[in-house]
Amino acid sequence: MSALLHPFAKPSAAESSFIRMVRGQGAVVWDSNGKRYVDGLASLWYCKVGHGRADIADAVAAQMRTLETYHCFERFSNGPADELAARLAALAPVPGSRVFLTSGGSEAVDTAIKLSRVAHAQAGHPERTIVVSRAPSYHGVTYGAMALTGLPLNRKDFGSGLPDVVQVDKDDVDAVRQVLLDHPGQVAAVFAEPVVGAGGVWPPEPGYLQALRGLCDEHGAHLVLDEVICGFGRLGATFAGSHFGVQADLTTFAKGVTSGYVPLGGVLVAPSVHEPLAADPSFVLRHGYTYSGHAAACTAALVCLDITEREGLLAKATAIGARLEPALQSLQKDGLVADVRGVGALWAVSVPAGVDPVGTRDRMLDLGVVVRPIAPATLAICPPLVIEPGDLDAIPEALRTALS
Ligand SMILES: Cc1ncc(COP(=O)(O)O)c(C=O)c1O
Repeated sequence: MSALLHPFAKPSAAESSFIRMVRGQGAVVWDSNGKRYVDGLASLWYCKVGHGRADIADAVAAQMRTLETYHCFERFSNGPADELAARLAALAPVPGSRVFLTSGGSEAVDTAIKLSRVAHAQAGHPERTIVVSRAPSYHGVTYGAMALTGLPLNRKDFGSGLPDVVQVDKDDVDAVRQVLLDHPGQVAAVFAEPVVGAGGVWPPEPGYLQALRGLCDEHGAHLVLDEVICGFGRLGATFAGSHFGVQADLTTFAKGVTSGYVPLGGVLVAPSVHEPLAADPSFVLRHGYTYSGHAAACTAALVCLDITEREGLLAKATAIGARLEPALQSLQKDGLVADVRGVGALWAVSVPAGVDPVGTRDRMLDLGVVVRPIAPATLAICPPLVIEPGDLDAIPEALRTALS
């Protein structure tokens, strides 16, 4: 067994069962045996600009040689953190937004829970503590993010978690309304992934997110969109809120913001949340991570934003969907997959009853294509936005061979 206790893996697994990736270029990675793979999941849903980017490595190295980072607590700041916050605020779907930075997605979700509750408290409503989330959903693994996650196995045996969390079915607007009616004036926020990601890749029903927005407005709760997967171009817009035409009070992000070159996450904070925090000049926001605003991570994010603009990656996300969808649908017509769903460059197929998704993934690995098995009986597809057409076509082709 390896010294590395792998996340989301069997601690009993033999060291030889792991595939060690050693090199990447664009949407392609190579393992330690020299085998080539099309990276059909952008590593873990994050590598939007593609692997092996010297421009990001050079910019991060230059920043590190000058000042690796300096913290942003209390009276301190650093240039890349300030610059990134200003650029993200300008891109945010809600004008006048501010930005809180974290090291990843789970911290971003925890931050959103805390900002929502403390903003209500500062606005005179400390009784607003309840957080509504959906099932299935995936929001991360810290205690706050785990409590919101609508995948029961991810909570099993980890203890009782966060109080004041109510979960509803992912499509059930009436259930959200009922929670708001059952707990008048007590709901802080409603959390939703615009497209449920690791919980199965479920795009929203038409009008669903607008209905959530309307309910939150009616009942004084914040709407939080968890864009850790959807943000930064995955759906063809910088933020999914813009794609679906919904303005969130808080928007969590991570992954694609740096494409994983350096870990980074954060929260877009709309005026509805940051104004009550700034209203009392004596109030101190006692929240933050050592690496909130890490200069090297923020530098990587700034270069990723440049690449996204320069290489037209938003349009590429839409083009990926237009090419992938008919190829996946032809698998469905041929009875090889049970369901096809997705938007932009975020897709999934359900395998038919009796077919093992993990075994299918393993056969696809043999064929040189990486996808990810997720519940329920689903294979997720989320390639780097720079994928070449031939490599993109290899994904449904490998699916066909593996399932035939
Ligand atoms: C929607 C969503 N939120 C939060 C997270 C947690 O992010 P991290 O693994 O960076 O903590 C993820 C991770 O996949 C995610 O997909």
